[in-house]
Amino acid sequence: MDVVICRTQADAEAFAARIIADAINAKPEFKLGLATGATMEGVYAVLSQMNKDGKVDFSQVRSWNLDEYVGLAPDHDQSYHYFMNKHLFSNINIDKRNTHLPDGLASDEEMEAARYDASIDEAGGLDLWLVGIGQTGHIGFNDPGTSFTSRTHVAYLTNTTYEQNKNYFTPPESMPRRAFTAGVGTVMDAKRVLQLITGKRKAAIAAATIEGPVTAMISSTALQFHENALIVLDEDAAADLKLKDFYKEVFENDPKWANYR
Ligand code: GLP
Repeated sequence: MDVVICRTQADAEAFAARIIADAINAKPEFKLGLATGATMEGVYAVLSQMNKDGKVDFSQVRSWNLDEYVGLAPDHDQSYHYFMNKHLFSNINIDKRNTHLPDGLASDEEMEAARYDASIDEAGGLDLWLVGIGQTGHIGFNDPGTSFTSRTHVAYLTNTTYEQNKNYFTPPESMPRRAFTAGVGTVMDAKRVLQLITGKRKAAIAAATIEGPVTAMISSTALQFHENALIVLDEDAAADLKLKDFYKEVFENDPKWANYR
């Protein structure tokens, strides 16, 4: 697991965007996993600008998102379809037919979940999945207790996640209590996982993710088993890391980061 600590939130967002842009430039037919959440807005703003400036081309990229609320139509302003169109897809030259999210309105939930996994498998798997983290340590909506081998499924959200997200909804109680989410296993199958963690309120869960014991009670700890995981943090989110100075030393001295310093 690689850990990179950036000075500010903006630096961390730009760093994550650059990792993605470099990977797409090296392989134009890139298969990219994406996430939602406030943390991602800055990354998508940087990628949108890079695309406008001709620094990255999304014309052959295909994308899959982590999750979608059950019962929300794509044009609902709190749906993740809406979020992605607003913050990324409408601002870049991606073919929207090549973007995938679970269908929140699917009448057969099990079939929709299986279809979603199959679409990833048929594409030959994802090259990189960009993920954030929730207060419970969830990736996507894989709240505590979700199996590390889980595939895409509908999850009933914990109270913590409900409390964290409901204020985006009007009224807050209209937030769906269930959501489609790629499973921990689905995310772990990606060739690379890039996790972005920013802000003071994420410091404790960041330390648990990177340095704590691996447990299904914190789904992001599964990343300790991923052979190509990179966690990018800002100083605030890195505050509780025991090996903070060591991660910085590696970044400053390891030749593999030479182009990023
Ligand atoms: C939601 C999403 C997660 C995301 C989390 C954190 O729960 N399902 O994928 O990581 O929010 O969001 P934020 O970046 O706003 O803290």
